[in-house]
Amino acid sequence: MQKATKIFTHESLLNINHWLTEHLQSNHQAIFEVLNPDTSDALFSGETITIDQIPYCYRGYKAWVNLAELHHCKMRTPLKLTKHTIQLTFQKLNKEKSFHTTIIKNREEKYGTTSSFFKINKNEEPTFLNAYHKALQAVKIEHRTHILNLGINKGDEFELIEQMVNKQIFQKIKLIGIDHSQSALDFAKERFSEKNTAFYKQDINKIAELNLEPSDLIISIGTLQSPSINYKPFLMSLVQNHLTQNGALILGFPNSRWIDQELIYGAKAPNYPYSEMSLLFNDVIFAKKYLQQKKFRVTITGREYIFLTATRINLK
Ligand SMILES: C[S@@+](CC[C@H](N)C(=O)[O-])C[C@H]1O[C@@H](n2cnc3c(N)ncnc32)[C@H](O)[C@@H]1O
Repeated sequence: MQKATKIFTHESLLNINHWLTEHLQSNHQAIFEVLNPDTSDALFSGETITIDQIPYCYRGYKAWVNLAELHHCKMRTPLKLTKHTIQLTFQKLNKEKSFHTTIIKNREEKYGTTSSFFKINKNEEPTFLNAYHKALQAVKIEHRTHILNLGINKGDEFELIEQMVNKQIFQKIKLIGIDHSQSALDFAKERFSEKNTAFYKQDINKIAELNLEPSDLIISIGTLQSPSINYKPFLMSLVQNHLTQNGALILGFPNSRWIDQELIYGAKAPNYPYSEMSLLFNDVIFAKKYLQQKKFRVTITGREYIFLTATRINLK
């Protein structure tokens, strides 16, 4: 077992932050000793507790996990060192291990079966699952009959719908998925081989060529902001031409990046070395305002993925 190289008792978070930044510049992990968060259930982070005449600044596990993430680290299992202290290890994530930076010749297969993106199951990420699940509840998923998914990839978005509604209802919903990755579509087709599903290899920009009947729910997660899609005009044409009178919309906007198997909070913006959210807010607010003009009720939820959910206001 590697030993803690630093002990923190009453130091401020700012000081700890500085130490971590410096230490992690030349080390792949930072190991340090702190007060065991289980020492108290009654303290806020930052409150002082004195034990054996040593003043400690209290911090909960959530504060440590957040701090590790902000330093692009994963937190290893803490070790109990003494009656009142633990050892924490922050291990640096490998920034090279990210599909965002992978260069691939065939653009359409960037998210195909051989990509590392393909191994990700967002339904197993609590903050994603919670927001997507709530969005499906908000659109009353059990009453929807024609669902169109743009950028379906391997079909994870349909998987949650299948888990939420009973089998009889699921088999009656017409599920259509569009993507330009043939390998991902082949996988999705095998996974959802029932007669009620259809998967099309098609450039989303040319969706009109498919002559689909309008859907009463359109879902698109992590796709419409792709550089290949002219987001604003596309969104407007989608609402005007592909939604039924009572149709609803669920859009998921990434506010995160995958680094070395971890979902890291914060959208990466060009020209900024840190997370910057102007582009994200711009796109979300554009959709919100446009849909409100079109008489939708719009909610914005989520964390690592921002979910915009729009349902028609029933005007009498
Ligand atoms: C980031 S992935 C998101 C996949 C899935 N919705 C999810 O959240 O796991 C974007 C998907 O959209 C597809 N895609 C991107 N641009 C496209 C376009 N212009 N036409 C068709 N598919 C596109 C990609 O192949 C990929 O499967």
